[in-house]
Amino acid sequence: MTQDRIAALRAALAGTLDAAGFIGPEDIGDRHRVDWKGMRGEPLAVLRPATPEAVAATMRVLHALRQPVVVQGGMTGLVHGGVPLQGEVVLSLERLNRIEEVDPVSSTATVQAGVPLETLQAAAQAHGMFFPVDIGSRGSCLVGGIVSTNAGGNRVLRYGMTRSSVLGLEVVLPDGTVVSRLGRMIKDNAGYDLKHLFVGSEGTLGIVTRAVLVLQPAPATRDTALVALPGFPAAIDLLKACRRRLGARLTSFEAMWSDYFGFVSGPMGIGRDPFAAPHPLYILVETMGMEAERDREVLTEALAEFVEAHPGADAVLASSLAEAGELWRIRDSSGEAVRAIAPSAGFDVSLPIEAMEGWVASIHAALRGIGLSVFQTYGHVADGNLHLVVGYPADQPGQKTRINDLVYRSIGELGGSVSAEHGVGLEKKPYLPLSRSPAEIALMRSLKAAIDPHGLLNPGRIFDA
Ligand code: LAC
Ligand code: ZN
Repeated sequence: MTQDRIAALRAALAGTLDAAGFIGPEDIGDRHRVDWKGMRGEPLAVLRPATPEAVAATMRVLHALRQPVVVQGGMTGLVHGGVPLQGEVVLSLERLNRIEEVDPVSSTATVQAGVPLETLQAAAQAHGMFFPVDIGSRGSCLVGGIVSTNAGGNRVLRYGMTRSSVLGLEVVLPDGTVVSRLGRMIKDNAGYDLKHLFVGSEGTLGIVTRAVLVLQPAPATRDTALVALPGFPAAIDLLKACRRRLGARLTSFEAMWSDYFGFVSGPMGIGRDPFAAPHPLYILVETMGMEAERDREVLTEALAEFVEAHPGADAVLASSLAEAGELWRIRDSSGEAVRAIAPSAGFDVSLPIEAMEGWVASIHAALRGIGLSVFQTYGHVADGNLHLVVGYPADQPGQKTRINDLVYRSIGELGGSVSAEHGVGLEKKPYLPLSRSPAEIALMRSLKAAIDPHGLLNPGRIFDA
């Protein structure tokens, strides 16, 4: 049966995909089978179209065969959205890797979906501009992935999530129709703004093939400081002080509790802890600005004033790019840290900033109450987003559901979100109703049914049809 299906796919796609475009089951490597968190699937085949047009042609063939598809980018997602399920083919966007244009007048880049984030950042920089979306997986994640998942990351407080940087989009619908609006104008109220339907829909409605992305002026200065704090109330004070004193210069405000910071800079041996003694909480502050003489001065003054007023607080300002890099490596290594304590349950929640201290204390206590004590607590704070990773013993797989239930119930009670930035995928599907009303989920289902009536595109991700 399966062999017949694969042979039929190969024959039907022969005129559409080149030799490198069709990988049969015997040649499929882990790149397309396994995601970052280690979930594994067995796709019928991996399809690798080389152009956006070939993606559309491929979908027309798959649609005619009613063949379900899972779309893959860099496979760095954390909710199992890209792992192939039974009977699916993989459609990988990795060969769509052209930066088509960088336009300094509209300050945009038009790029294909398979361009790695880091390559886009470098291209913007080479043209004296700056692409602000930034996440630890920048070297592996692809533009199509960050757009379709509306990736967040470390500079959301200043530049918004990926959605804020998307000006135009080209998508391929499940039947192969191309919906293209690659305009460079900010203003466009001629009817529905359809791109927003696809940004963050996790590939369930259409396949992103090209995007027009907003570039920012390249900052003249970039400074990084690490602030060690006696507790969370000081973090709120620091956030207020940074906003007041640094204004628009403030680009990142990243929190790391000692369970994360100590583990990464200690046993994992990543980066360097610049402080003589451990502290309960660390905040990585980044500023960017346009005034070479003034920006660093303002940050230095703000930190000195803060430390002066907060006994138990300490701060270091990186004196070189290399030093800043060492500090950022600690924060950027969350992906390696989660793997180091596998198996684990990982969370990406939103909650009001003023509720964070109480939530962290009570969820740690509740988890200790069921015998768990391996935690990694960190997050973006200023945008309401925290991450929590909870390790559990490999011989107690049942703990995962108990951990999920404890965490999600507590977040539901606070009116928070079960996914601030990573999305729902397969992983958080059971918990979607804690964050979304029945009316919202019903509308999501109607949209899915209207655009993908045969349920071919990333079926069963986010919600069941
Ligand atoms: C981070 C990822 C886990 O913030 O979202 O490091
Ligand atoms: Zn994050």
